[in-house]
Amino acid sequence: MTEKEFIPKSYSNTIENGSVTWSSPSNIALVKYWGKKAHQIPENPSISFTLNNCKTVTKLSFSKKESQTDFSFEVYLDGEKKDDFKPKIKTFFERVEVYLPFLKAYHFKIETSNTFPHSSGIASSASGMSALALCLMSIEGELIETNVIPSAVEESHFIKKASFLARLGSGSACRSLEGDLVVWGKHDEIKGSSDLFGVKYPYKVHPNFKNYQDTILLVDKGEKQVSSTVGHNLMHGHPFAQERFKQADKNLSDVISILNEGDLDKFVALVENEALTLHAMMMTSMPYFILMKPNTLEIINKIWAYRKSTGSKVCFTLDAGANVHVLYPEYESGKVLEFIKNELVAYCQNGQYICDVIGLGANKL
Ligand code: DP6
Repeated sequence: MTEKEFIPKSYSNTIENGSVTWSSPSNIALVKYWGKKAHQIPENPSISFTLNNCKTVTKLSFSKKESQTDFSFEVYLDGEKKDDFKPKIKTFFERVEVYLPFLKAYHFKIETSNTFPHSSGIASSASGMSALALCLMSIEGELIETNVIPSAVEESHFIKKASFLARLGSGSACRSLEGDLVVWGKHDEIKGSSDLFGVKYPYKVHPNFKNYQDTILLVDKGEKQVSSTVGHNLMHGHPFAQERFKQADKNLSDVISILNEGDLDKFVALVENEALTLHAMMMTSMPYFILMKPNTLEIINKIWAYRKSTGSKVCFTLDAGANVHVLYPEYESGKVLEFIKNELVAYCQNGQYICDVIGLGANKL
């Protein structure tokens, strides 16, 4: 499959105005995407759990406009105008215009809200960009609608193209459309995997991973000092980059048997190693930076001590920030939640944390 297949042939309908709404979740990577080539092509494949509760709801209203020379849109977060979101969305529109040739024909009103607290340090780009991509795909759907119920092929094209577009907004966003595990990036052992879009993990997953829990400890809710985009770019010329990309590829191979067998010890080791490797890449780039905070390390040490004394399978992962995602099987949730409340919440900013669980992906509202 190539990019060209996402360029529509023609639109048969004309629509003056309308609106669509999608809800799309965040996701947490087990094998991390860190480093990309031109056009949002990842240097290595990644796999993530789709979340259930942390999501963005976006309503996209559109009305035909006279001139088609430029993009025209306004953005609102929780009802408040957000002009500072506009540059990122403009870049997104520029990148996807060739695949959505109607973009300059309409004025768009983007009304968005997140279920997680604003500026919680939780990346809203994955849920936000995937929700926006889905809204745009629904509009395209109306422009080509034929009154015939969409075939399975058309439905699968819809989700693939939405993921393809979301990727052009933010790489990790392409893994947010479906559940419960999504792979992005070409991997020889994963059928259908692609650098262009995320695909639902196609193999058997052991019941140990059913309803896997993710409690997100909000350690630092401040603005990150280094954006993911800058971090990805620092992998160019990074002394350990090539080894890291190879390691991610190998970890993805290993994940296949771990998921199949339900081997939680191997899962814990792989996931924590990935999280620390991600941060090791940040600490060893030039310029170098550290996104973990002292409390991130306190939490990690507490998790290790708890695991040692109880035999629990709880583990942590990190994204590009100080917050800690605490992952554990559903059957441990009572005990681990107690542990979190008794021993970890003290390290969270204002005692805040979010209980989430693996989810099934985006929904049209
Ligand atoms: C550490 O998807 O936010 O969360 O493509 O530049 O928007 P851009 O980056 P982004 O990077 C996410 C990196 C990560 C790991 C991951 O989700 O795989």
